[in-house]
Amino acid sequence: MPRLTTRAVIGIGSFVGFLIVVWLANTSTDPSHPHKTNSKPSTSLRCHRWARSLKTGLTPYISNDKTVIITGAAGFIGSHITRYCVNRLRMTVIAVDDLSSGYEANIPVSSKVTFVRGDLKNATFVWSLFRGRKIDYVYHLAGYPSRRLSHFVRSYIYRNNLLASVNLINAAVKAGVKCFVFTSSVAVYGSSELVVSESSIPHPQDSYGIAKLSTELELRATKRVHDLEYVILRLHNVFGPNQNVVDPYRNVISIFMGQIMRDTPITVLGDGTQKMSFTYIDDIVSLVARCPLYPAARSHTFNLGSDNVIDINHVVEVVKSVMKRPNHPVKHVPAQNEGKLAGIDHSKANCFFKQTPRMEFEVGVSSMADWFRAVGAERLKRSRLAALKVETKKNIVSLWLNEDVSEVDEVDHLARLVA
Ligand SMILES: NC(=O)c1ccc[n+]([C@@H]2O[C@H](COP(=O)([O-])OP(=O)(O)OC[C@H]3O[C@@H](n4cnc5c(N)ncnc54)[C@H](O)[C@@H]3O)[C@@H](O)[C@H]2O)c1
Repeated sequence: MPRLTTRAVIGIGSFVGFLIVVWLANTSTDPSHPHKTNSKPSTSLRCHRWARSLKTGLTPYISNDKTVIITGAAGFIGSHITRYCVNRLRMTVIAVDDLSSGYEANIPVSSKVTFVRGDLKNATFVWSLFRGRKIDYVYHLAGYPSRRLSHFVRSYIYRNNLLASVNLINAAVKAGVKCFVFTSSVAVYGSSELVVSESSIPHPQDSYGIAKLSTELELRATKRVHDLEYVILRLHNVFGPNQNVVDPYRNVISIFMGQIMRDTPITVLGDGTQKMSFTYIDDIVSLVARCPLYPAARSHTFNLGSDNVIDINHVVEVVKSVMKRPNHPVKHVPAQNEGKLAGIDHSKANCFFKQTPRMEFEVGVSSMADWFRAVGAERLKRSRLAALKVETKKNIVSLWLNEDVSEVDEVDHLARLVA
């Protein structure tokens, strides 16, 4: 047998290694089919594959000639996206909101922003947003974002978060929109003892998550049938200025700040050792705003947020400290049975957009507290959550019964369903 030189051995070894890398990269999961559960390659291999696909879509489209609709623009995340699209991307924005939980004052004032107040549940109103305009992209952020309350306002959640989205998808197809950006949620995963990635099989456990997943599925079906491009972003626990502070069913940071300002004890569910990751708004805003500009991001779903995992007792300490109320009382109330995730894999978004959340938790909470003292506290005084009636009180968290919760009466409920 002929003896191989060292050079030849190295050459053959490199070639075989290259073939293995290519084979592994090509057998990884298909991002547009989340139900496929092939064996998962390492993060660097997945980065390699996404980098390859980016070669065909690395150059973003020019943004300053784009006209976009942003729904939920008076809300927390929507107002930041509107500001970024106008100030940084020079887009023309049709800012849409029914002000059910947002504030007109959150919407940036600019000659390039037109605010239109209206309810997306009304298909005629939705079509009026597109009529006579050439809309390039839709950023759909409007919705009622309470996961825990959603069990008790099911019918409202499906009408407001799912059917309203369907109205918008229909209009986007009819108007020839080029890309539909949808802010979904990690609520689609439900509970998992494993770290969830975009290829994990979704098991939503509340009406909010079911409505989000249904909208995602609808977008994928619409892409197949009508070729409407989309980008789905599964967010989790975003916090920062402009967040709704009067709704007691949302992000714990704004709830805790509100409780301090109202001089009522901070309420912690369970013993407070449960861990969550929190994402400061500035860490995701540019990515959400820019994603439709990247051809390679189209038809993809991304988990989006921070890996910074913090236990609730620590969140309480940070909030008390930045609000300068270190001795504020804390009350522990029974824990709830809600979806828990072992962790959330953000590597796809990190590889794809080459951008990872960086804001230190304490710094983010501190800047939110500055805003809270200046603006949030005033909002807390003036308004309670608009009359959101629960559809059933059975097994509702006892804590919420102290809020302005009234059970909808059956006749009224049916009348509203028919309307
Ligand atoms: N904040 C988070 O941590 C988080 C996490 C995951 C997903 N999301 C999603 O991101 C989006 C924005 O969330 P947010 O925290 O900014 O909430 P938000 O309540 O501050 O904003 C939602 C906005 O939508 C408006 N709206 C609601 N229903 C409407 C309707 N039928 N017609 C017109 N406008 C309507 C509200 O008035 C509000 O201004 C939501 O879809 C939410 O589900 C948020």
